[in-house]
Amino acid sequence: MKEAIDRLVEQLDGLAPATAMVLGSGLGGLVDEVENAIRIPYAALPGFPKGGVTGHAGELVAGIFGGQPVIMMAGRAHYYERGDASAMRPALETLAGIGVTQLVLTNAAGSVDPEMLPGSIMMIEDHINFSGTNPLFGEPTDRRFVGLTEAYDARLRKSFEAAAAAAGIELHKGVYMWFSGPSFETPAEIRMARMFGANAVGMSTVPEVIIARFLGLKVLACSVITNLAAGMTGAELSHGETKDMAPIGGGRLATVFRKMFEKDMPNE
Ligand code: HPA
Repeated sequence: MKEAIDRLVEQLDGLAPATAMVLGSGLGGLVDEVENAIRIPYAALPGFPKGGVTGHAGELVAGIFGGQPVIMMAGRAHYYERGDASAMRPALETLAGIGVTQLVLTNAAGSVDPEMLPGSIMMIEDHINFSGTNPLFGEPTDRRFVGLTEAYDARLRKSFEAAAAAAGIELHKGVYMWFSGPSFETPAEIRMARMFGANAVGMSTVPEVIIARFLGLKVLACSVITNLAAGMTGAELSHGETKDMAPIGGGRLATVFRKMFEKDMPNE
């Protein structure tokens, strides 16, 4: 990690963001709003995700957003790529290593709630890890026993909620259930998810939340709803739909984030 940290510090040239963001499928457009942007391809940083999924750029963009220093990851590694739930650990450790203290995660997700339609945004209040895996498998120290009672930081959630209200954007709140992917869920799995108390389903974020809490980072996470989940409409799901629909909610999400960064982004 040391090499990645040193390289990043050098490239950032004095910029020291407390906040990092991970931008999900179709949400990478936010990097275009970063002022004085410093762009660093993941390939230049040891341990950062290689390759990637269509719809993901694979670069770090650092600069000023909403008046605050920030570093954005456009593109993430997913568990489903190689069956490695800890794929994002080196990148997140590097960010923690340069002084990042809070992590904002975004994703595209399917809605389990017929009232929460595509284009909506949902702040994640809690999650269900039903994948059977954990990014901390293999971590030898007792630090692996991470408490997740308050995984999603109350202060950041409050600030995000206030920003949505100030921007006049409807904000759903709920539970995100992590499925491994890459196949989409079955209708039966979606009925189960609903019974279990999930509001949205997706293939990312949860391992990052666990790693972030392990590293002591505060977490805020938000989903952009791209579709009603499997079996809810009769139509088959596709990644193309995810990519096409994400920018719709993504625009709303960007507006809320801008407001939050401008008005009340905790920054210590
Ligand atoms: N399921 C899982 N992941 C997703 C979905 C979905 O319906 N939509 C976008 N990402």
